[in-house]
Amino acid sequence: MTTASAPDFPHQTTIPVIRTIAMPHDTNPSGDIFGGWLMSQMDLGASTIATRRARGRTVTAAVDGMSFLSPVFVGDEVTIYGKVISTGRTSIRVFVETWRRNRQTDEVNKVTEATFTFVSIDGDRKPRPLPPEER
Ligand SMILES: CC(C)(COP(=O)(O)OP(=O)(O)OC[C@H]1O[C@@H](n2cnc3c(N)ncnc32)[C@H](O)[C@@H]1OP(=O)(O)O)[C@@H](O)C(=O)NCCC(=O)NCCS
Repeated sequence: MTTASAPDFPHQTTIPVIRTIAMPHDTNPSGDIFGGWLMSQMDLGASTIATRRARGRTVTAAVDGMSFLSPVFVGDEVTIYGKVISTGRTSIRVFVETWRRNRQTDEVNKVTEATFTFVSIDGDRKPRPLPPEER
């Protein structure tokens, strides 16, 4: 078990962008929480961070290094944490971690992590240079 006081608990370096509860409609046919649902939550959370940095519309260009480390169960609290790890002329790489918490026992586990690349786009869907970083 990994607890909330463990040194690698993410809130030291990343920010929470989504917190939700895993529900029965988020399961796969076997009754476990569906990995695709977790990936969509991570994409949504990462896009919030990328869109804030771009101060405009972004699209998901790539997802790298997705690993599933432990399962999520119906009723778990699921939190998506993330941070910008690098930027290019138009692209933004966002590292994302997902943690689950059993709401009855407070047991906390890291579930998955991945790096998402977003591209800032204009109204014609063409790559748009990132604005200067806000201080
Ligand atoms: C992402 C997209 C805008 C890139 O357009 P493009 O004309 O190929 O862009 P460019 O070749 O000029 O590259 C623009 C930037 O995107 C980055 N990029 C493009 N494809 C990438 C990929 N597969 N992985 C990582 N970065 C990528 C480039 O490195 C470049 O970054 P930089 O400006 O910081 O150096 C375009 O491919 C697109 O719209 N894809 C669909 C996105 C989408 O619909 N996502 C949701 C899927 S459900």
